[in-house]
Amino acid sequence: MARYVVLGGNGKAGRRLIGALEERGHQGVAASRSSEARFDWQDTSTWGPAVAGAEGVFIVGPGSARDWSGPLTGFLEVAAAAGVRHAVLLSARGVEFLPGGAVDLAERALASGPVPWTVLRPSHFAQNFAEAMFVPIGGLITAPVGGAAEPFIDVRDIAEVAAKVLVDRALTGERIALSGPAALTFEEAAAILSAVSGVVVRFEPEEPTAHAARLRAAGTPEGYVRWRMAMLEGIRTGADAYVSGGVEQVLGRPATGFAAWAAREVLAAAWATQRPGQAA
Ligand SMILES: NC(=O)c1ccc[n+]([C@@H]2O[C@H](COP(=O)([O-])OP(=O)(O)OC[C@H]3O[C@@H](n4cnc5c(N)ncnc54)[C@H](OP(=O)(O)O)[C@@H]3O)[C@@H](O)[C@H]2O)c1
Repeated sequence: MARYVVLGGNGKAGRRLIGALEERGHQGVAASRSSEARFDWQDTSTWGPAVAGAEGVFIVGPGSARDWSGPLTGFLEVAAAAGVRHAVLLSARGVEFLPGGAVDLAERALASGPVPWTVLRPSHFAQNFAEAMFVPIGGLITAPVGGAAEPFIDVRDIAEVAAKVLVDRALTGERIALSGPAALTFEEAAAILSAVSGVVVRFEPEEPTAHAARLRAAGTPEGYVRWRMAMLEGIRTGADAYVSGGVEQVLGRPATGFAAWAAREVLAAAWATQRPGQAA
């Protein structure tokens, strides 16, 4: 039984990775500002204790608003000194849409650091519709993506890939693109969410400028606005609609489809607890 430290361990990917490591008979330790193993990207004194005794580490950054490649470089030195043998970074497939952005810089810092590494580059998460930016509000999903499609990935697939890569210490020095098995429009996604939850869910496209203005009005940091708009523009133009084969390559089975993900998780989403048929 080996010990793996999961930064961002109470987040969407991290908590599923801890489950996937346990299923493989290993220990996944959640580390973050509010986890039992305290880890703060802004507090160097938390880094050493968090990685002590770890075979490998899963890295989720402190957000995409600001460059965090400096802290990542420092952290990798601490991890190498502690004997960590593999670092797996949760990056994003859309890194190509914002060259020189925080995610791109983090990938570069990892690649020039002292710990053997693997980069996971997933597409947009299916879980965004249950836990994050595409959650329906009053039954309505809005995003500046027009009628374009995206191959949403089930975060559990990312977690299973990460667990296998960490445990096997496989695919070092590689960047693995991951996506769901097919691209869906947001309208198609909304139809599946409606069918599974019994709550009427609709999608309405939004103008990119209106979306950015809404984020800024809500006080969103400018760096994050830039990152998010670049990712959404990648969807809107159709550039992100391609399917990536990383899940099948690593796990030897197809990636989970959006409908199968929804059937497993959507009823637990806060918005889906309205009564069936209740108009949003
Ligand atoms: N959503 C998508 O569609 C998508 C697609 C591709 C890639 N990604 C990438 O996925 C990553 C986010 O992963 P996620 O969605 O699993 O995370 P998440 O659910 O957003 O959770 C963020 C995690 O980071 C921790 N954290 C935040 N600030 C921290 C700090 N200063 N020090 C230590 N820990 C900190 C949080 O825990 P505490 O609050 O307890 O510290 C939490 O565990 C991002 O890098 C994003 O680019 C997302």
